[in-house]
Amino acid sequence: MSKEEQTELRSVMDSVMSLCKRRGFVYAGSEIYGGLANTWDYGPYGAQLKRNILNLWWKTFIEDRDDMLGLDSAILMNPRVWEASGHVANFADPLMDCKSCNERVRGDKLLEEHLKTTIAGLSNDEIYNKVMDEKIPCPKCKKLNWTQPRAFNLMFKTYQGVLEDTAAQIYLRPETAQGIFVNFKNILDSMRVRLPFGVGQYGKSFRNEITPGNFIFRTREFEQMEIEYFVRPEQAESVFKQWVEDSMNFFTALGIKKDKMRVRNHGKEELSHYSTMTVDIEYEFPFGWGELQGIAYRGSFDLDQHTKFSGEKLQYRDPETNEVFVPHTVEPAWGLTRTVLTVLVDAFEEEALEDGETRNVMHFDPKIAPVQVAVFPLQKQQSEKAEALYKTLKPHFRCEYDESGAIGKRYRRQDEIGTPFCVTYDFQSDEDGAVTVRERDSMKQERVKIEVLAEFLKAKL
Ligand code: GAP
Repeated sequence: MSKEEQTELRSVMDSVMSLCKRRGFVYAGSEIYGGLANTWDYGPYGAQLKRNILNLWWKTFIEDRDDMLGLDSAILMNPRVWEASGHVANFADPLMDCKSCNERVRGDKLLEEHLKTTIAGLSNDEIYNKVMDEKIPCPKCKKLNWTQPRAFNLMFKTYQGVLEDTAAQIYLRPETAQGIFVNFKNILDSMRVRLPFGVGQYGKSFRNEITPGNFIFRTREFEQMEIEYFVRPEQAESVFKQWVEDSMNFFTALGIKKDKMRVRNHGKEELSHYSTMTVDIEYEFPFGWGELQGIAYRGSFDLDQHTKFSGEKLQYRDPETNEVFVPHTVEPAWGLTRTVLTVLVDAFEEEALEDGETRNVMHFDPKIAPVQVAVFPLQKQQSEKAEALYKTLKPHFRCEYDESGAIGKRYRRQDEIGTPFCVTYDFQSDEDGAVTVRERDSMKQERVKIEVLAEFLKAKL
């Protein structure tokens, strides 16, 4: 990629971030106190967009399927869960300090950025030796004065109860997945399920990332949407392939461009401690390709581990053959907040218009647009009628009413927040019982009779 192309892509990211703040999608966290590094708050439109994506995910994968169940487990869990899952021993990144300026980096990421390739499976010593061989300096002070990497566990620690001693120490969950495994027996005992079946849940996860960044791409507090799909071992491969396909279909249903996504297989050395087969669905962000979703074949690792650590047998009995065995798991794991970023970046366009002007447009799919229909009076004189019309549409669509400023400015504002349709009640509307409907992407306008307006919009949304 040329330097000019890189600069252009960077500026896309800057434009999206500035639009997000200006239009109430995402604000910097705790801003009036000077902020808290890499924390973000979702404003009214951002919160709605996130919820719309989540609702579509829940409907697609939980509500509309007969083989899926939903769950909502606690963020705080018995710390033994994280010993069993391997997170206490293995969930660590190689932290390196610059001895000259105290800058902290992730050794593997420093190496990856320098070599422009994914590296995995290197020991801390190997990372250090490669960094020194390649003479990779500190990005801040440009000196080559690194400490040896230390394994830095990413789990946030906190304390339950009034005593701040190690007996009361617990973790904020680093993934939602384990809540599903520890409820496996509850689900078998309380629900009528037969293999294959899956359990999905969404919610906050926390990781004390060494290098968070790229806006809401990598944060220390984020939201996931995860599914553990339980199968007979011999079903795993075909189920895995199906999940890759279903996941891609979900992203395209969100309106994300297909040619900006790719499926990347993890090499053997890159696999997590629990997985024998993993693919990432990646998106080409303005800062490069990045993981949007991971799909992992976890075998029976988690159910075996929790059986070992808890003493509870996490097994399945086939109701027809009475065969008892430990199911295997295929896990599609999405990042909700990362999907929000993808949708924002993918939908954004700085469009050059014929009259020499430019407009910012968010080409959101109407299903997930925070506002679907905006209603305006052309002038203040039509306010009463326009507002009455707005009230009739509100029960059917996510609607907004706006009568402030020039009509052109109102259109531009709705383009920036990605509203697919603007409806204007004008001086002719009393006479012909019709309004002007303006479509966001084409900017085409057409007259539509008020009596069929709701049906007209429903057919388009
Ligand atoms: N249970 C498996 C698991 O958690 P993961 O690949 O570590 O797998 C799944 O996480 C998804 O969660 C990622 O594909 C990404 O979308 C999202 N994610 C992970 N860490 C994140 C972070 N620090 N900030 C935002 N999203 C993150």
